[in-house]
Amino acid sequence: MSDSKNIVLGVSGSIAAFKAADLASQLTKRGHSVHVVMSQDATEFITPLTLQVLSKNPVTTSLYDEKESWHPGHIQLADEADLLLVAPCTANVVAKFALGLSDDTLSAIHLATRAPVLIAPAMNGKMWLHPATQKNVETLKDRDVEFMGPEEGMLACGYEGIGRLWPVDGILEKVDEILAREKS
Ligand SMILES: Cc1cc2nc3c(=O)[nH]c(=O)nc-3n(C[C@H](O)[C@H](O)[C@H](O)COP(=O)(O)O)c2cc1C
Repeated sequence: MSDSKNIVLGVSGSIAAFKAADLASQLTKRGHSVHVVMSQDATEFITPLTLQVLSKNPVTTSLYDEKESWHPGHIQLADEADLLLVAPCTANVVAKFALGLSDDTLSAIHLATRAPVLIAPAMNGKMWLHPATQKNVETLKDRDVEFMGPEEGMLACGYEGIGRLWPVDGILEKVDEILAREKS
């Protein structure tokens, strides 16, 4: 088990969003402080309550969830993060990160944090292979954003091919690797 770290777990609007529950649970069991930030669309796929209970922390779903303090919560999350993990990450969030947009909490944290960023994409294979997405991925890799997957297999949209979320165990191994690297 690695030392306890602050992990911001971004969850976006993919059919694989339910797998974020396992990720949140496993990261929390490893002793990490997990702060889930959901896009509005992600809340169509999995409830904030599920992720709140599994992460044992409040879940952010809007830039305007700022009831607790004068200090903008998203900036605090960005400042305190040891890792920004987005799993599953939609084509839309990949594009927003590449463009540097900040019209929701997750994309604002992406701009404001200096923590390493790990993205586990999940989408239809044609969306993943589209030149626009591939260009966005290259842009982010050039900025040292790391990617885990997607993997090949049967997709929820009915196609067989690339686009599945990388297995949770593999994402957890990558998280351990990044956190250990940052420590040394
Ligand atoms: C049933 C369903 C499944 C979807 N699955 C995905 C997906 O796996 N990956 C993806 O990039 N978009 C997927 N989408 C489309 C996104 O939800 C849509 O682009 C949305 O605007 C993403 O918002 P967000 O990136 O802010 O979460 C899906 C949409 C629906 C209705």
